[in-house]
Amino acid sequence: MNVFIAGGTSGIGYSLAMHYLSKGYHVGVCGRDLKKLPKTNFTNLEAFELDVSDFNLLFSAVNSFLNSNKTLDIFINCTGSYAEDVASQISYEEASQMLSTNILGTSNCFEVARMLMKNQTSGQIAVIASVSGLLDYENSSLYTKTKRAVFQIASAYRRALKPFGITVTTIAPGYIDTLKLRSLNNNDLSKKPFLIDLDSATKIISQAIENKKEQVIFPAKMKWLMLFLAFLPSSLLNIIMFKKAKWMKTN
Ligand SMILES: NC(=O)c1ccc[n+]([C@@H]2O[C@H](COP(=O)([O-])OP(=O)(O)OC[C@H]3O[C@@H](n4cnc5c(N)ncnc54)[C@H](OP(=O)(O)O)[C@@H]3O)[C@@H](O)[C@H]2O)c1
Repeated sequence: MNVFIAGGTSGIGYSLAMHYLSKGYHVGVCGRDLKKLPKTNFTNLEAFELDVSDFNLLFSAVNSFLNSNKTLDIFINCTGSYAEDVASQISYEEASQMLSTNILGTSNCFEVARMLMKNQTSGQIAVIASVSGLLDYENSSLYTKTKRAVFQIASAYRRALKPFGITVTTIAPGYIDTLKLRSLNNNDLSKKPFLIDLDSATKIISQAIENKKEQVIFPAKMKWLMLFLAFLPSSLLNIIMFKKAKWMKTN
């Protein structure tokens, strides 16, 4: 099996890469800085340094990973740019990074996978969205709005690719204990509700991919909380989510 993981050099993507490598799969990963990628003894791992917002670089990396003739069985997009931007301002550079990785990069990943899978009549594309993207309210963060877009992009590709035997899985996690989440929170995740560890998340994500699920929202408690909140009017969500974000910022 050939699995390409965009954003497979750290966090969730790296953990998924280790999962597939240990099963003996041929795995390709990419990220903007390969120095992040821990050293491994796996010989079935290939790494590419690129930004997913550059379509041509991504396309040629995945092509080179497939050596122009192998099947692309699974493409997982784990890239993502996030910041704590509900109760505070983010810079223009952070906003621009979020738009280009979460929206343009997501579209590029789907396009590259679509182009390489379309003549196979098989293949699976998975993308990491976020539970926050389940909520629609006026003052939601830019991150939340971009993750809502990820749900819609995935849904459009699912509809379009179904006749070609290609399936699309949208992953919507709550808080997962990654170094990135820790670095954004001064290494203190005590206020992150229903936090889960990386190994458990990897198991849930890989099983959803294996079972070709359309969507997985986890952990269960977070799923039910989000589905409840999604019923509330936007004006009420504006207040609740702002207060929650403020509380998370106070010590
Ligand atoms: N951790 C959580 O609690 C949580 C919850 C819900 C959703 N998510 C989502 O899960 C995904 C992974 O999160 P994580 O916590 O594992 O973060 P992470 O450790 O920062 O992983 C992100 C990966 O994507 C790569 N990447 C980021 N921007 C890129 C770009 N423009 N081009 C190419 N590679 C890029 C990163 O490497 P480089 O920086 O070197 O490029 C890294 O390999 C994100 O989409 C995030 O929004 C995370």
